[in-house]
Amino acid sequence: MTKKKILLVFGTRPEAIKMAPLVKEFQKYPEQYETIVCVTGQHRQMLDQVLDLFDIQPDYDLNIMKQGQDLYDITARVLTGLRDILKDSLPDIVLVHGDTTTSMAAALAAFYQQIPVGHVEAGLRTRNIYSPWPEEMNRQITGRIAEYNFAPTPLSRENLMTESVDEDKIIVTGNTVIDALYWVVNKIKNSSTLDHELKAELKTAGYDTSRLQDGKKLVLITGHRRENFGDGFLSMCRAIKDLTTKFPDVDFVYPMHLNPNVRKPIREVFGEKLQGLENMFFIEPLEYLSFVYLMEKSTIVLTDSGGIQEEAPGLGKPVLVMRDTTERPEALKSGTVKLVGTDYDKIVKEVSELLSDEEAYAKMSHAVNPYGDGQACKRIVDYINNL
Ligand code: UD1
Ligand code: UDP
Repeated sequence: MTKKKILLVFGTRPEAIKMAPLVKEFQKYPEQYETIVCVTGQHRQMLDQVLDLFDIQPDYDLNIMKQGQDLYDITARVLTGLRDILKDSLPDIVLVHGDTTTSMAAALAAFYQQIPVGHVEAGLRTRNIYSPWPEEMNRQITGRIAEYNFAPTPLSRENLMTESVDEDKIIVTGNTVIDALYWVVNKIKNSSTLDHELKAELKTAGYDTSRLQDGKKLVLITGHRRENFGDGFLSMCRAIKDLTTKFPDVDFVYPMHLNPNVRKPIREVFGEKLQGLENMFFIEPLEYLSFVYLMEKSTIVLTDSGGIQEEAPGLGKPVLVMRDTTERPEALKSGTVKLVGTDYDKIVKEVSELLSDEEAYAKMSHAVNPYGDGQACKRIVDYINNL
């Protein structure tokens, strides 16, 4: 039997987290698949953190990241970078993930050599091409190119069907992020030393989890969306700052994305040294294990992230999403996620309510898992096996 050659391409932290368990699943069957990994390096440090954790050694690394890169830089470098890699590796299928510019440009590169593309996390839609920007257009273009569509939920399948995608080419798999999350949660649960190690790691990173004794509450914050840069970010930061003074007994921890556009408004609002508030902790991006560990210990998650909207509900954590739209309405429906936009008043009101109203908190903190059962990668590999 000839082996199928599978080329998986990814470049940013969230794609790596969501593609890592799929790489591992293909690698379980070396007699059936030649698993080839190409990273674009759209992210460098934040990608490498994930590659280290999952022990993945890429076969190709385009290493494209530049400080302050723009969308033209990423698109052009991924597209031209993949030309020779595709010619060299001659894959039967190229798998890309989600909605980043790496995914869109990689899909286009494969199309130019008429290699079929499988889209993992296919069919998410807001139908507003500027929100999230440029992700909504990235995923629509990738979807248009894709031959095989691995939709995480029945709703994402419906979205594709309304775009006349062939029903037989859409497979509802669950989201691979839940595979990654379960892997991490089990790793922490089954280790006698990790709890201690992660506490130590977080302490070194700048947050001492022993502060969380005696029922102290924790608000975990992340933010990075391009459409929020400028006024949106300033308003988010002002709201967070005022919340830290309104709730001096609550800790606020913000692992900051490395994008300079994210850090600038934070420094504008909190001061150059990011010091002076006893209950506000700005730290570097956390390694995935430490982040999940901290998410499990948090009371509320305040974020504009896509992946965190999928993970936190599974851990029973209420999520306030600092965006006006979401392509992940499933957890909105189940009541664990609420959109608060970047409006100062709305953020302050909703966080305050969850911190002070037990009934409101109870309503939003039941664990639900609309995004998967941890078997998504197995379903994707089974489908490709049967092609
Ligand atoms: C990218 C994706 C976004 C995804 C997000 C996840 C695009 C256009 N954007 O946005 O969809 O939600 O990743 O985090 O595909 N940087 C570093 N080191 C890193 C990572 C980033 O220094 O490891 C800095 C660099 O200065 C880089 C900048 O952040 O130029 C922006 O990175 P970029 O990938 O362009 O945008 P993100 O906001 O990270
Ligand atoms: N994450 C992480 N360390 C951090 C912050 C987030 O490992 O300091 C993880 C998080 O659990 C999720 C993913 O990174 O799986 C989300 O990445 P991001 O918010 O950057 O991108 P998005 O999901 O919005 O595309």
